Amino acid sequence: MKTIFPKEILSCFIFFISFCTFSQNKSERELTLIDKDWRFSFGHLYDTQKDFGHAEGYFSYLTKTGFGDGPAASGFDDRAWRKLDLPHDWAVEQSFSEKASFSHGFKTAGKGFPEKSIGWYRKKISIPESDKGRIISLKFDGVFRNSKVFFNGYFLGTEQSGYNGFEYDVSAYVNYGGENTIVVRVDASMEEGWFYEGAGIYRHVYLQKTNPIHIVSNGTYVISEIKNDNAEITAEVTIENKGNDKGSIEIIQTILDTGGKQISSVSENVPAPEFYKKANFTSKLAVKNPLLWDIENPNLYRLVTDIKQNGQIIDRYETSFGIRTMKFDAEKGFFLNGKPVKLKGTNNHQDHAGIGTALPDELQYYRIKKLKEMGSNAYRCSHHPPTPELLKACDELGMLVIDETRLMGINDYHLNDLKRMIERDRNHPSIFCWSVGNEEWNIEGNIVGERITTIMQGFTKSIDSTRPVTVAISSGFRSGISSVVEIMGYNYLGNGDIDAHRNEFKKQPGMGTEEGSTFATRGIYFTDDAKHYQSAYDKKPRPTFYSIEEGWKFYAERPYLAGVFFWTGFDYRGEPTPYGWPSVTSYFGMMDVCGFPKDNVFYLKSWWGTEPVLHILPHWNWSGMEGKEIDVWAYSNCDEVELFLNKKSLGKKKMELNGHLEWKVKYEAGTLEAIGFKNGKKVLSQVQKTTGSPENIKLSVDKENLSNSNVVMVTAELTDKKGLHVPTADDEIAFSIKGGKILGVGNGNPTSLESDKFIDNTNLVAINNFKEKKLTSADLPDKIEDANDADWTVAFKDRDYKKQAPAYVYKGDFELKNNLDNNIVTFFYKKIGKETAVFVNGNKIEPSKDDTQKYILNKAILKEGKNTIYIATTPLQRIKDWDVMNTDPGIIQVVTPAESWKRKLFNGYAQIIIQKNEGEKEVILSATAKGLQAGNLVLKK
Ligand code: GAL
Repeated sequence: MKTIFPKEILSCFIFFISFCTFSQNKSERELTLIDKDWRFSFGHLYDTQKDFGHAEGYFSYLTKTGFGDGPAASGFDDRAWRKLDLPHDWAVEQSFSEKASFSHGFKTAGKGFPEKSIGWYRKKISIPESDKGRIISLKFDGVFRNSKVFFNGYFLGTEQSGYNGFEYDVSAYVNYGGENTIVVRVDASMEEGWFYEGAGIYRHVYLQKTNPIHIVSNGTYVISEIKNDNAEITAEVTIENKGNDKGSIEIIQTILDTGGKQISSVSENVPAPEFYKKANFTSKLAVKNPLLWDIENPNLYRLVTDIKQNGQIIDRYETSFGIRTMKFDAEKGFFLNGKPVKLKGTNNHQDHAGIGTALPDELQYYRIKKLKEMGSNAYRCSHHPPTPELLKACDELGMLVIDETRLMGINDYHLNDLKRMIERDRNHPSIFCWSVGNEEWNIEGNIVGERITTIMQGFTKSIDSTRPVTVAISSGFRSGISSVVEIMGYNYLGNGDIDAHRNEFKKQPGMGTEEGSTFATRGIYFTDDAKHYQSAYDKKPRPTFYSIEEGWKFYAERPYLAGVFFWTGFDYRGEPTPYGWPSVTSYFGMMDVCGFPKDNVFYLKSWWGTEPVLHILPHWNWSGMEGKEIDVWAYSNCDEVELFLNKKSLGKKKMELNGHLEWKVKYEAGTLEAIGFKNGKKVLSQVQKTTGSPENIKLSVDKENLSNSNVVMVTAELTDKKGLHVPTADDEIAFSIKGGKILGVGNGNPTSLESDKFIDNTNLVAINNFKEKKLTSADLPDKIEDANDADWTVAFKDRDYKKQAPAYVYKGDFELKNNLDNNIVTFFYKKIGKETAVFVNGNKIEPSKDDTQKYILNKAILKEGKNTIYIATTPLQRIKDWDVMNTDPGIIQVVTPAESWKRKLFNGYAQIIIQKNEGEKEVILSATAKGLQAGNLVLKK
């Protein structure tokens, strides 16, 4: 368990120095990350037996409080379940099948796979006696989806959304001074999106402890108004009282600057709210000459809210915020801190290669940095609220955000989701706009859409008055939602006449919420439908869609349009348009699923970024194409570019604003070189060289990775004998690691059906046909002979507990599908008697030393197909008539160790996501492949 007191250690330290009077107090808030050491197993969507008998009882958790049954009961035996750490996405661990969902990337989980659509998670935590009187809660950042949570067998609630955070107060159910069991049943059988969404507890989980009088979660709201050179800060706090303490409390609001220095503080005495009531309190603070938050300098301040009672701090809550102004102007576009900013945005889903939706926090930074490197300054969370860490990364790195709710509507399901999103996210300076919908084809152009938008927009303003509201619209731009929405969100030039809409609604600002949806396979320069290859030259993809260049030019030329969001920054699983199976990821991204750039990145970088850019495509390894014409394109922001093949000039061309250059070049091996000129002077050059065959494996850490980060993105590539990167290499590379673990592998190939993860397979095998025979003596046998089958009767049937035999022998069978040499087979016995002797296929088995109810079964005594288990025991006695006697002998666990990690390169690259072990000084990743020089990467702390 990692304890956060109450935020990052470093800032906490600085904070401590400047606030040494604020000592950590037992009654203060504690927030502990409880991602480690969970048990997991699949249940079943409709076969309750395969769902461990959950909800089968005469009384269920819905009829009687605390009647969580099956795995929901605290006493359930989960020893045979797989151990794992969160975040976890079980969908990405599965294989692919044509029968699986197009939207979810053909992974064999969720919709259509009842045996892989229910996931059970269990975790034990201890809570000390001294916590009595505190409010103990479980906080989930997001579970996909439809989760039910139980605590010590008590049902806490259902959360349908796969994207919203939620919290349960468990104080009343806690076993203080002892062990407590958290159980989550996740039902991913339905999809909320038409894109990959993962499955399971894929975001963080926390245990929170507070005083009964406390600030509610997401209970602060910080607004700043800049007057002359100063900022007036309005800090609102919502305090709840879950106890009987009355009287006055003191609220102290303190602002700390980026260095942790106190710069402003106010305090006031107020009456504590009544029992189970909430109250809002507002304070005004001032920041002189504030450092504003913007894209280049994302300055962040912190508000520390303390509640004091009788002179003692009883709660502390920290809120990170930024000071900035922003506005949309219907004529001139978007303004940040009074300066015009063209929104250069991308849309993105939340999954990444190798790990699906279970992203370690570091990866959020990696992805946002990649987008910033492309010159992008804005991110649309399509089409759902993101994980809090994404917004933290955007705040800290300087990326503007459109935060979007999942579904449009005016009922609790919709408005409550919207409210929770806004309350959770409204202090993030990066968020500049709320989106309340996307392409709702049923209502976009009609009066229902108009009504819903009006309500959702007004509702949004009632929670956050500082940001405007948009809806991304695709079917015609003149009626329905588009006639009432505050900021018009245009999805695609081909979907309507943007200029005509603007002429009709002159006061309505607008932006391109989606554009592009172009297709490109990284490193591919000839479309080949048979191979599902889409050429990476930026061309008009479909009759009513436009290239990235056409899209950007349209938005760049119109000052009244605030900017554009291309579909998408990164490829994602699912939606492999224009193909289907066996393509499993999208083709839309400027980067592939790993974050390796496609050529479009350099087009955007040329016109979005501030650095000089020169990039030529394609690569120059076209053996067999000698003498044939190849299109050579240059992306650059130089004034002119001259191209040379083997030192011979192929002409100098003038670059048009927001354009690119093209040459037709007859292929001959060698060096293709481009030289970029600015004001007539050579400023840049770029070469594409024909390489030799691959010889060495090269592993490198992405330069965006912090060396002290626990999760590191590693690139594997091949080089020829001169050390040149081979752009066509597709060898399979095997990986091994010391001092850490591999989280996932990917290569950006949309048609790759290779495993993303190599994890041990845990199979639970039931014991069937359970029968019994009476023994005449309590001395248990040393041997079992099973001569006469007829003597066996169904186990425990009509047992007269008052007249039990001195001992019984039970018999059952279990099927082993594959009795592989490296399988580890364990019988997890559940007590059905006192003295016990276990036999498998006639062989006596000794219990293991660490657990007397665990029997490791040697492969030599097992066989493929049917195996027989005998359990001889002296019986348990029923004390009270209503005692429920265990009749379940337990379960057989078969663990098949994972194969070693491997992945093919795709057009020269693969990605390995590794995580250092805690406390390890050194991590070594090794890569080998047939006929190639092995590669090693050593990372030191
Ligand atoms: C849009 C939609 C996106 C994605 C995209 C693909 O219509 O909003 O979610 O599906 O099309 O072109």
